[in-house]
Amino acid sequence: MTRAYYVTTPIYYINGDPHIGHAYTTIVADVLARTARTRGDAFFLTGTDEHGQKVADAASAAGLSPQEWCDRLIPKWQNLFARFDISYDDFIRTTQLRHELVVQRVFERLRETGDVYLGKYEGWYCSNDETFWLESKLVNGRCPNPECGREVQWLSEDDWFFRLSKYRDRLLQHFLDNPHWVRPRSAYNEMVAMLREGLEDFSISRSSFDWGVPIPGGGGVIYVWFDALLNYISAIDWSRDDPRFHRYWPASVQLIGKEIMRFHTLVWPAVLWALGEEAPKLVFAHGWITLDGQKIGKSLGNAIDPFELIERFGSDGVRYFLLREGHFGSDFSYSEAKIAQRYNDELANDLGNLFRRTLSMLERYRNSLVPQPGDSVFPERFAELPSRVQELIADLRFRDALEAIWELVTALNRAIDERKPWELYKAGDVRALDALLYDLCEGLRWLAVMLAPFLPERTAIMWRQLGLESGLHDDWRETLVWGGLAADTQTSLGDALFPRLELA
Ligand code: MSP
Repeated sequence: MTRAYYVTTPIYYINGDPHIGHAYTTIVADVLARTARTRGDAFFLTGTDEHGQKVADAASAAGLSPQEWCDRLIPKWQNLFARFDISYDDFIRTTQLRHELVVQRVFERLRETGDVYLGKYEGWYCSNDETFWLESKLVNGRCPNPECGREVQWLSEDDWFFRLSKYRDRLLQHFLDNPHWVRPRSAYNEMVAMLREGLEDFSISRSSFDWGVPIPGGGGVIYVWFDALLNYISAIDWSRDDPRFHRYWPASVQLIGKEIMRFHTLVWPAVLWALGEEAPKLVFAHGWITLDGQKIGKSLGNAIDPFELIERFGSDGVRYFLLREGHFGSDFSYSEAKIAQRYNDELANDLGNLFRRTLSMLERYRNSLVPQPGDSVFPERFAELPSRVQELIADLRFRDALEAIWELVTALNRAIDERKPWELYKAGDVRALDALLYDLCEGLRWLAVMLAPFLPERTAIMWRQLGLESGLHDDWRETLVWGGLAADTQTSLGDALFPRLELA
């Protein structure tokens, strides 16, 4: 069976409104999915994590049942993703029956094989982080997560455990044999160090509250993290020998923020192995967007409202900033000044002006018709660019990919500045003018194709104004052959792609 590309994001807790951090991971996944689709079948999964104490607490504070609360919040999350042109193929909610049945089936299966067993759990529990902490890790008796620091409670209950310790050696070997399966390197190293210290079994049930998937046969609910991780396989119909499942699993890339890498790179592969399935091919634990040096998030109350950012910079303006600003993997800081500057300099100026200048010269000199191509240095100079950009994206180096694309933006702008089409026009040098205008239009067509995964909204507009219909999302190996734009194509000058922002 042909394998397909499968990319996932974490499923987000809906104990409140989405913020820019949630949009970030989802936008990155969208770029990967859109790029992969130009080459073949791809499946992009995102969704919401609706069980657990955090969501239950938020609901009760609002005087609603947890399910009512989730149902009320979902439209806001889905609307945000729609505003960002997120092309997910499936949006999973852990309260959906399709998911709950898989969670229960997994639990039963592992109870049969002995990987899930009944034991006693006693320990310090932070309900905000949904995490048990060793006494030695507590800071002044409180939750050691620097973003949290809340009071912890002593829990003592009969719990179901997952035999994580049994998989410790196999995990370590897997890390050693596959040095790139967890990226970036810092994440990999941290997890190897943790494995060397040893692993304890992992409690996967809760009897202190009831907002979760019921344990088959009774005795509480399944721990929210065990429930949540399974979304990645419940969405693609996990069960023995299901062809759809095997088409997509193991996932090509699982994107997460670095704060949840322990669950995704230690617990998750072990659960998969216990089920006889493979570990994902790559887990990428990216860095955080920070504000004044601190992670942006709900807990700190410094969440940036993504809807407001879209109002100001457009969805593509925000997408561009998030992908261009940091090296993917590292933390980077957000500021209004930074996003505004990139927007004005790179989108409004470099790209937007290039596009508008080209189409308005075409209108003035050539009745908006694409001229005949002539001699050009561009085909040779940029022949390797598309494959280079594809590789950089596949390697999750989004900033480098955008910089590579910008080499073409810069070269086209320079061609205008150096060859001064207005002088060629005055001098009546038809051949030189046509050759230059053709290169500009063809270069812009290339830019639209290569930028489509990053800027889906604006590139669709570029495409229409260039007089093109289908093809924006086709295989680059076929579309990006210099000369693909037909002479006499009717272009149309429209409004500025990225209107310049007046800054205070
Ligand atoms: N529900 C769990 C994940 C379960 S996955 C099986 C969870 N949810 S969350 O709502 O807290 O979302 C966390 C994820 O949102 C991070 O891992 C990251 O992908 C994204 N981000 C949240 N804040 C972020 C930043 N400030 N910066 C970058 N990404 C951020 O954890």
